[in-house]
Amino acid sequence: MTQLTPEQLSTFFDSEEFCQTGHALIDVLGQYLQENLQGSGAVIAWQAPQAAIMNWQQPLPLQPTLTPASFISALQDKVLAANLHIHHPRNMGHQVAPPLPLAALCDLVAALSNQAMAVYETGPSATLIEKQVVQWMGALVGWSDATGFLTSGGAQANLTALLAARQSVAGWNVWQHGVSAGKPLCLFASEHAHYSVSRAAGIMGLGSDAVIKVAADSKGCMDVNALQTAWRQCQTQGQLPIAVVATAGCTPTGSIDPLLAIGHFCREKNLWFHVDGAHGASALLSPVLGQQLHGIALADSVVWDGHKLLYMPAAVSAVLFRVQKNSYAAFAQEASYLFQGNEDADEAYNMSYRTLECTKRMMGLKLWAAFSLYGVENLAALVEQVFSVASLLAQKLEAAPDFELLMQPQTNIVCFRHLPTARLSAEALNTHQARLRMKLVEDGAFHLTQVTLQGQYWLRTTIMNPLTCESDLDALLLALSV
Ligand SMILES: Cc1ncc(COP(=O)(O)O)c(C=O)c1O
Repeated sequence: MTQLTPEQLSTFFDSEEFCQTGHALIDVLGQYLQENLQGSGAVIAWQAPQAAIMNWQQPLPLQPTLTPASFISALQDKVLAANLHIHHPRNMGHQVAPPLPLAALCDLVAALSNQAMAVYETGPSATLIEKQVVQWMGALVGWSDATGFLTSGGAQANLTALLAARQSVAGWNVWQHGVSAGKPLCLFASEHAHYSVSRAAGIMGLGSDAVIKVAADSKGCMDVNALQTAWRQCQTQGQLPIAVVATAGCTPTGSIDPLLAIGHFCREKNLWFHVDGAHGASALLSPVLGQQLHGIALADSVVWDGHKLLYMPAAVSAVLFRVQKNSYAAFAQEASYLFQGNEDADEAYNMSYRTLECTKRMMGLKLWAAFSLYGVENLAALVEQVFSVASLLAQKLEAAPDFELLMQPQTNIVCFRHLPTARLSAEALNTHQARLRMKLVEDGAFHLTQVTLQGQYWLRTTIMNPLTCESDLDALLLALSV
């Protein structure tokens, strides 16, 4: 066995080298950020994965292959250059934030200080910061006494909320006795709900068929009459409905389900009301946009992604509960080496009692920093900006004869199709959209996505970058028209 000398140890843990390499790295990242924000290069230097993989097939290094200096060069050449440039104003594909640079610095703090956060003593300040931001976010939902925690992404947050719903509403201890100890459970979600909802049902042992897909109206919002019909059908089939998942900012079109009506329905039928606000909950920052989410305060649980419209580096999502005790229902499990205290007052500070993660990153710091450095009003302005650019894009598409707008955007997602002069079959029109999109991605000029709705392909833009401006929109329409 090797005995490390102090000199050898210092090659691993050297604060001076950390500072030196760190300063050089920050300079490189600063330049990367500036170039991206200016939109000076391509959005993506596209290379098919089968070709790009050749850059990442070196043998396992038994001895060092890089120095700190050549590591930074490799980062520039092999990593940053091949990235999807998220801060580029013409990056308008996915619902991923161009993160606030100062929030990104918080992730460095989180990584270096590595607070495990499973229980309070493994991350005292991290735990308290998280409680603070959860309380702030709960207050924005409209709850004075909310609880919850941060977790690694909206998919995991939805699973956590639905686990709590299952345990709270089923009427028996599902955690202990399993789903087969009672009536078959089901839940309702719009046909446009995120796939993580069906996945959660699969993971929970309900089966993904237990998610009853409720039809949406022409604006992409859940049809409450269809929800009522679906509920009656479940009753006659002997199923036990536990929850309705409403989406505030659904993934394909950004539409917001009618939260107030669904909330009242849930109260009347004793169903858990979950709002998947992974995308759209950030509208709550703005008094104007927040009106679209009227009724959200009726929810039993709300999911809100920081790495979408709160401009955080991925991944950080809040799962918020209106009633404190419900946050313990998701993982009704004991682990005596971690949780010695039985008093609620202590357990409230031991996060992993209620999260899928045991060890968890200090995720709250970046949110705390963003709220503190900018304030809600300035963060709201970012969201208002991207919503209004999305609405401008919709106006331009409506006015252009060679484009078809799917629907008026309710958030910052705009879906549309290009209509070439030649009349095409439905299938050829679909292929045309897919080709156009792939051409733009391969050219690196723009990044946009594609969505299929009722068998039709639509181009889909998500305006995430507040620096995206009218000239970028005009350039997009021009690039798609040629
Ligand atoms: C409405 C909605 N819910 C949940 C998710 C999953 O969130 P995450 O990617 O953070 O796991 C997404 C992702 O885009 C989403 O749009």
